[in-house]
Amino acid sequence: MKGTKVPQKISIIKPDDWHLHLREGDILKKVLKYSAKNFSRALIMPNLKKPILTYVQAEKYRREILKYLPKGSKFNPLMTLYLTEKTNPKDIKSLKVNELISAIKYYPSGATTNSTYGVKNFEKVMPVMEQMAKFNIPLCIHGELPGENYDIFDREKIFIEKVLDKIRSRLPDLKITLEHITTSEAINYVKSTKKNLGATITVHHLMINRNHIFDRGIRPHYFCLPIAKRKSHQKDLIQTATSGDRRFFLGTDSAPHLSSKKESDCGCAGIFSTPYAVPFLAEIFDKKNKLPNLEKFVSLNGARHYNVKVNVERLNLIKKNEPVRLKNWIRAENDKIVFFGSEFKLYWTTEREKNAKKISREN
Ligand code: NCD
Ligand code: ZN
Repeated sequence: MKGTKVPQKISIIKPDDWHLHLREGDILKKVLKYSAKNFSRALIMPNLKKPILTYVQAEKYRREILKYLPKGSKFNPLMTLYLTEKTNPKDIKSLKVNELISAIKYYPSGATTNSTYGVKNFEKVMPVMEQMAKFNIPLCIHGELPGENYDIFDREKIFIEKVLDKIRSRLPDLKITLEHITTSEAINYVKSTKKNLGATITVHHLMINRNHIFDRGIRPHYFCLPIAKRKSHQKDLIQTATSGDRRFFLGTDSAPHLSSKKESDCGCAGIFSTPYAVPFLAEIFDKKNKLPNLEKFVSLNGARHYNVKVNVERLNLIKKNEPVRLKNWIRAENDKIVFFGSEFKLYWTTEREKNAKKISREN
């Protein structure tokens, strides 16, 4: 029949988000359901105002997250610890035994939101990282070298040269995730390695480049760290994410902030992308004719890197004939949190499991 296209439906293993900021209190309460809807698991970042430094703090934080989950949700928050120059190498062995901690997070001090407790000199954390290599605990790295000597657009490249490469040559057995990569240099570095190095890519770095931040005015909701780079880097990121290469996988780095903190004379870094992250990825893979690789990027490659089982739950994605109406923001702490993506066209949606089952039976 003329003009009546049947919506396209695909079913994939329910995704994992290998880099997520959930915050705490009211923000956590408001944002968590969006992760639970489209993701089975997420690696939860420890950069709270009071960072998660110990096993006991991580256990308590995980309990708080579970308390706010929607009824019946099987969402599994995987916990991380915040690495500081005071972290005791002797504590690492026991972390392996009780399995609560999936990774330890390396923030170069001053590189991003709540990173002041992070690492100034990597030599100081070598003994901890040695133990992590020995006991097989992965290290997640925010790969930027901060400071006024380094241009903000070069900080990722410089970190790789001055820090990451040195850590890797001294500890080849340490499993590392280079997080939220934004440059062709990072892609090439990861591709040049054979084992123990993977990288996460965010949805927003696939959708925006640095011009979007200054499009007819300054756009605080496109400001995140690492900052979006030139369009050529964005193109390389899209090519890499959609290629299916097992070293690259999704970590949204979804980082909710109150609008009043972002729309300010010193607006903070972070983009809240969870609600439409998976549908936008379907859009990107679809446009590149790479939908068959979507499941690798969102559900398989990360599980393989972290050496965990792939999820059992599934998620259905549906392509509508008309663009989907996108929500702009939600209320939190008497303020609002703005969603990433509402200016972009989106034809894909996800279906909750109940409906998803119905759809697969109809097929
Ligand atoms: C993150 C945050 O707000 O916690 N911000 C960001 O711009 N990505 C921290 C981080 O991962 O850099
Ligand atoms: Zn982050």
